[in-house]
Amino acid sequence: MQIFIDTADTEALAALIPTGMVDGVTTNPSLIAKSGRKIADAITEICAMVDGPVSAEAVATDYEGMLAEGRFLRELAPNVVVKLPLTENGLRACRTLSEEGTPVNVTLCFSATQALLAAKSGAAFISPFIGRLDDNGADGMELIREIRTIYDNYGYDTQILAASARTALHVKDAALVGADCATIPPTVFKAMYRHVLTDVGLQAFLDDWAKTGQSIL
Ligand code: G3P
Repeated sequence: MQIFIDTADTEALAALIPTGMVDGVTTNPSLIAKSGRKIADAITEICAMVDGPVSAEAVATDYEGMLAEGRFLRELAPNVVVKLPLTENGLRACRTLSEEGTPVNVTLCFSATQALLAAKSGAAFISPFIGRLDDNGADGMELIREIRTIYDNYGYDTQILAASARTALHVKDAALVGADCATIPPTVFKAMYRHVLTDVGLQAFLDDWAKTGQSIL
């Protein structure tokens, strides 16, 4: 499973890169706003930090505007993925940009039929928002399951990018139901490897080792 970091905070990202487990990055207009940076500067810097796909979201809502912004964002770096919302214009622009060779991440997906249409429009990634569905009393993971089945039934190669993942449990469940990738905030990345029993166990081993008076080297 590919792990993407959902952030425009380059400092937080830089701290995770040495782990070798960051496969890509996703951003959205809210995350860019939070960073206080110009989108072109933030995306260019992030693209230089990671080899994998970096999603940069267009904010135009009309077809021509989406194309213009998508083409601009695509030019920022070879690993830019243009993110477009799941609207009629977004799907139409997804097809055009995909045909031009630009990978598109279709975002704000909340239903299986939306995901089906994104795949038909040539999307490289579909981003179902599992956390926001859970927030609204629905079952985000069930949506991932449905999309997996539909894509497998018809051989669509659009990658399922579990988005709005808020907990390590979300990542585990998304992996169990076959999502190709999950995008998570840096805090969730850390929560994936931290475990109290690991810490307690390590401390006990170190205490016992100290009693031996040995050193390995
Ligand atoms: O980038 C899209 C998504 O991951 C947003 O997550 O937590 O704002 O619902 P959240």
